[in-house]
Amino acid sequence: MAQVGTDVQHAAEILARGGLVAIPTETVYGLAADALNPAAVLRIFEAKQRPHFDPLIVHVPDLESARELSSDMHPLAVRLAEAFWPGPLTLVVPKADRVPDLVTSGLDTVGLRVPAHPLTLELLRLCGRPLAAPSANPFGYVSPTAAAHVNAQLSERVDYILDGGPTQVGIESTIVGFEPDGLVVYRLGGLEVGAIESVIGKVRLAINQSSDPKAPGQLLNHYAPRIPVHIFNGQIPDGWADKGFGIIALNTVPSGLFPKEKRLLSIDGDLNEAARNLFAALRELGDMPLAGIVAVPLPEVGLGPAMNDRLRRAAGPRPQ
Ligand code: TXA
Ligand code: MG
Repeated sequence: MAQVGTDVQHAAEILARGGLVAIPTETVYGLAADALNPAAVLRIFEAKQRPHFDPLIVHVPDLESARELSSDMHPLAVRLAEAFWPGPLTLVVPKADRVPDLVTSGLDTVGLRVPAHPLTLELLRLCGRPLAAPSANPFGYVSPTAAAHVNAQLSERVDYILDGGPTQVGIESTIVGFEPDGLVVYRLGGLEVGAIESVIGKVRLAINQSSDPKAPGQLLNHYAPRIPVHIFNGQIPDGWADKGFGIIALNTVPSGLFPKEKRLLSIDGDLNEAARNLFAALRELGDMPLAGIVAVPLPEVGLGPAMNDRLRRAAGPRPQ
């Protein structure tokens, strides 16, 4: 098992010598390395078994540090950063030359974000370098929302786990980019699209669902637990009732369904609470000897669309 603790100084020393540290953020835990050290960044890809075509998000302590990594921060990017950082928003902007190509998978843009977690902000300031960090899970699997989730899957591959408690948002950041026609949302996430629109007006959604996406994190089979997931459409797959299945729903099990295990995400129907509980529910049921998981879609308001997006991907074709 990897060492787990709250020693920010120790974490900073490991990062300074090219090591890997799992870091808490408000969304999910990240697997961090010095973004300006290609050898350290390479270790992230190896630890996650992540394909090199999938670029990493770079975490910085503030907007000023973000500017140092971008050759051209779009005025709308600055407005959004001022409105929502620290917070669950990643801005894809033209990269500065000093950002290694490995981090951006050869793209001329870089994804930047200031995470809203006191321990990680302290770490970013203390170590004085930007941290490349994808979610701290093996490629294609559910993202970790607690230190124990990281330890269960990546323990031998990470030098230290900085324990910041359970994550407060529970799903990954919203990713936006800037194209000639304006702002585009590439990934739904912890910041609602409505909040972005309240600052800069109508935006375009380009949520990729293909197997050859522009933003590779949008692969259709992302977020997959160990057993199949079925989006509830009034029926359940053949044989599941006999073997026993699990169910994930907001606060009620649809009538006529008799799951062996259930995870109700928020008894009060609070979608923020539901988002906090979603990945742990997928993980727990995914580790049980069940035929599969029936996921009841969440209401399409608030964080509902972002959660439904995760569920659809979890139910997507299994990686070969
Ligand atoms: O909340 C989050 O965003 C978490 C925490 C740790 O910050 N991170 C996270 O990283 O979810 P990851 O690697 O699991 O997903 C990041 C995705 C990539 O897969 C890619 O799709 C997109 O961000 N991305 C990164 N850089 C990009 C770029 N330059 N252009 C387009 N997409 C990019
Ligand atoms: Mg991920």
